[in-house]
Amino acid sequence: MPIDEPTIQATFEQMQKRLAKLLPKAELYEKARLVYEINRLKKERNAVILGHNYMEPALYTTIPDFAGDSLELSRKAAETDKDVIVFCGVRFMAETAKILSPDKTVLLPAKKAGCSLAESITAEDVRELKKLYPGVPVVTYVNTYADVKAESDYCCTSGNAHKVIEHIDADKVIFLPDEYLAGNVAKETGKTIVFPVKGATGLRKPESNIEYAMIGWKGRCEVHEQFTVEDIENVRKQFPDVVILAHPECSPEVTAASDFSGSTSAMIKYVQDVKADRYLLLTECSMGDNIAAENPQKEMLRLCSVRCPHMNEITLEDTLASLQNMQYQIEVPEDIRIKARRAVERMLEIV
Ligand code: 13P
Ligand code: SF4
Repeated sequence: MPIDEPTIQATFEQMQKRLAKLLPKAELYEKARLVYEINRLKKERNAVILGHNYMEPALYTTIPDFAGDSLELSRKAAETDKDVIVFCGVRFMAETAKILSPDKTVLLPAKKAGCSLAESITAEDVRELKKLYPGVPVVTYVNTYADVKAESDYCCTSGNAHKVIEHIDADKVIFLPDEYLAGNVAKETGKTIVFPVKGATGLRKPESNIEYAMIGWKGRCEVHEQFTVEDIENVRKQFPDVVILAHPECSPEVTAASDFSGSTSAMIKYVQDVKADRYLLLTECSMGDNIAAENPQKEMLRLCSVRCPHMNEITLEDTLASLQNMQYQIEVPEDIRIKARRAVERMLEIV
């Protein structure tokens, strides 16, 4: 629930209840000023704030009207009746909000806030793939830009990739662009996956006689690709009772060595539901802080040298500037938006 108090002092007191173990008093007071001002402006602008689960605790636990994973936030973006959507997340998420709610002003508090997966593939790459595999449906992870979604038949998120693949009645699907998410989905659904090869003259099919059902792409999340089975073994040696959760953007070897794999919201729910003394999250480090703030009795281990630089671009200061200056407005060309919307809506209809 967002903190919405009538004074800075009352805002500070509420924040202290949630964050006293994580932030010193002086910093909390500074943040309380920002939270108070953001909430005031939010009403003035008739805005809704959506916050991804990776936002830092001082932001995550105070200003979002809705917090969640990519799938939950895209549903909220489609439903809102506010004039302005402030997206505390990365650009592809804000773009998805604009695709679904074109009449709203969609603001991203940082100019870039990219994503290594979204950068890993272009619309031209998808057109080439479709030429190489004519008639094969294209499923694209939401972690892509609008022009890539526009070339796709379906979108999916980490929370519903499995269901989207099972829903499609076809012998083969093209699944883009995350190599590891594709590998995890292939494993779960018992499908075989191949990867086209990029040569000097363009893309070609791999030289392989295996009967395959999924065609992937070699994009990776720069955060999740860094976690290794060795990390897991080392932590288990030190804490034999630890419960380990890995996001499906981690390699299939890492998810296999973990106790649970799911979207960011599925991981939060798992920690809340499963009784254990300590947990290790293999994902952006802030999420461990956010879970610890809401579940003080649970010990959260984290490997915090691995951070998402893009998600970490979004701060309370930037969110305030975003509402003050109505920046940075997300625009998607109408022809691309209409095509991309089809793929996103098909996903939302499935689950
Ligand atoms: P979720 O949809 O699981 O929140 O994942 C988004 C993301 O970017 C993970 O790195
Ligand atoms: Fe992209 Fe990875 Fe950051 Fe998620 S954690 S936004 S997939 S770079």
